Amino acid sequence: MPKVALITGITGQDGSYLTELLIGKGYVVHGLKRRSSSFNTERIERIDLHPRHPEAHLFLHYGDLSDMGSLVHLLRQVQPDEVYNLGAQSHVRVSFDVPGYTADVTGLGAVRIMEAIRIAEVDCRVYQASSSEMFGAAPPPQNEFTPFHPRSPYGCAKVFAYWSAVNYREAWKMHVSNGILFNHESPRRGENFVTRKITRAVARIEAGIQDKLYLGNLDAVRDWGYAPEYVEAMWLMLQQPQPDDFVIATGEPRTVREFVVAAFDQVGLDWEQYVDTDPAYLRPSEVDSLIGDPSKARQKLGWTPKTLFPDLVRIMVDADRQLLEDERMGRLVRMDR
Ligand code: NAP
Ligand code: GDD
Repeated sequence: MPKVALITGITGQDGSYLTELLIGKGYVVHGLKRRSSSFNTERIERIDLHPRHPEAHLFLHYGDLSDMGSLVHLLRQVQPDEVYNLGAQSHVRVSFDVPGYTADVTGLGAVRIMEAIRIAEVDCRVYQASSSEMFGAAPPPQNEFTPFHPRSPYGCAKVFAYWSAVNYREAWKMHVSNGILFNHESPRRGENFVTRKITRAVARIEAGIQDKLYLGNLDAVRDWGYAPEYVEAMWLMLQQPQPDDFVIATGEPRTVREFVVAAFDQVGLDWEQYVDTDPAYLRPSEVDSLIGDPSKARQKLGWTPKTLFPDLVRIMVDADRQLLEDERMGRLVRMDR
């Protein structure tokens, strides 16, 4: 019998890569998608079912992390072996504008999914998408023992979800693991996260269709990895006999400014001619420095990052240049470029 997985947030960056990984392993994958007024399945539209696994299938279902009933019905129907809770209002700056909504979906949503598993009496393993944003103001390097000090409504919601996951593990003996993932990027990254905003602008400036790139804090330090490798860590966590919590990171600190310089360098442009700062992109309270220590993941999961900063920047800039070229030539645009 093929394994069955349910993914919330399947239409997002990580959801799309995780779906590909699981389909490649022969899973039957069910995804929760929310209703939107325009198509929101672009990232997963062209996922190929794996030829070596004729039993692999992908099904999408309408539902919402704010709607308990839809979660209970879906769990009863799907009977998953593994649940990956990736759904969230995941933008930190936006969470200051919609703190209540962020708490509801990103925080309470995690409780709803775990409670729905209990109500539906499904025997499954659960991955909770926790975040380095929970560390916030705690000085780096951060690992599994670093106390949380969140600096945004998003970070606060993720701390609530994290401790709820731990509590479901302790109270109900559920196999629930927290992946504390540091920033991870790809050509599928949403266009309003800083890395993709930069690489998309570089391609457009090079093509002569954009003049300026406006950014906020250039001094923030982040630990940027490559998303396809991070979803593998999620899967590895659920293959462990015991549930546990893991930091997933590269350990390599870089500033936003370094990302800008590397991206403009790749196309031979002087970034200082094109980049300006705009206070609109500053945050009421910033997270200055996130640098992860992934030693536990290396030792217990055998997970190590392979794609580091220079390659990540190159992959993303190349993909955005190719995307523009495809659009210009009227070719079918693939998100995985
Ligand atoms: P993303 O691209 O923003 O995707 C978020 C997903 O959640 C999308 O599929 C979105 O649907 C869905 N969603 C939003 N509101 C929902 C709701 N009310 N009900 C159900 N689904 C909803 O995020 P990502 O980068 O893939 O990240 C995946 C998860 O990991 C998130 O929980 C994020 O907070 C967390 N995380 C990300 C990083 C990172 O660096 N990427 C690091 C640490 C933790 P639509 O497509 O319809 O918007
Ligand atoms: N988005 C954005 N836009 N960020 C900017 C900009 C800008 O124009 N200019 C500077 N920054 C800075 C932000 O202030 C922040 O310090 C850094 O760039 C990274 O911002 P984001 O790419 O938006 O990511 P994030 O670190 O806030 O949050 C991401 O990573 C978290 C893990 O640490 C998201 O994916 C979260 O969902 C995730 O949990």
